[in-house]
Amino acid sequence: MSLSIEAPRSPRRERATNRTNFEMYAWVFMRLSGLLLVVLVFTHLFVNAFIDGGVQRISFAFVAGKYASPFWQVFDLALLWLAQLHGTNGLRVIINDYAERDGTRFWLKMLLYTTTTLIIALGTLVIFTFDPNIS
Ligand code: HEM
Repeated sequence: MSLSIEAPRSPRRERATNRTNFEMYAWVFMRLSGLLLVVLVFTHLFVNAFIDGGVQRISFAFVAGKYASPFWQVFDLALLWLAQLHGTNGLRVIINDYAERDGTRFWLKMLLYTTTTLIIALGTLVIFTFDPNIS
């Protein structure tokens, strides 16, 4: 009987168990979305909370005025999706790193994906169905 012991961490074994590059794409996504978020978050803060009287003048009419413009609809949509997906992927990594039991990891991530899906769906719906004449 011959005993052959596989070399640890051999590239062949790695490829067989990990066929996709998901983690590499997730890593790139965090960097690219982070860069875009700098621009989106600071523009958002500047326009909504700083110029023309800042937060004091935020009202339903202010929001209605912004959502009359497709530019701000697309802007807010990008901010919503990128912040949610970036934050969710960041939390996914933290859960993988810190939750030690398989069950805990699984349920924490299910909770995370469920809330993210709900928030993205609800936010997207509001941006596209916003009615300035609601009574
Ligand atoms: C404002 C611009 C932002 C930049 C430049 C940025 C950049 C980054 C980068 C490069 C990472 C990866 C860190 C790593 O892999 O070690 C990261 C992680 C993370 N980001 Fe952001 N981010 C921004 C905004 C946000 C926002 C708005 C949220 C929340 C919605 C958020 C939540 C997170 C979380 C939870 C992590 C994981 C933290 C960790 O791995 O320790 N980030 N961010």
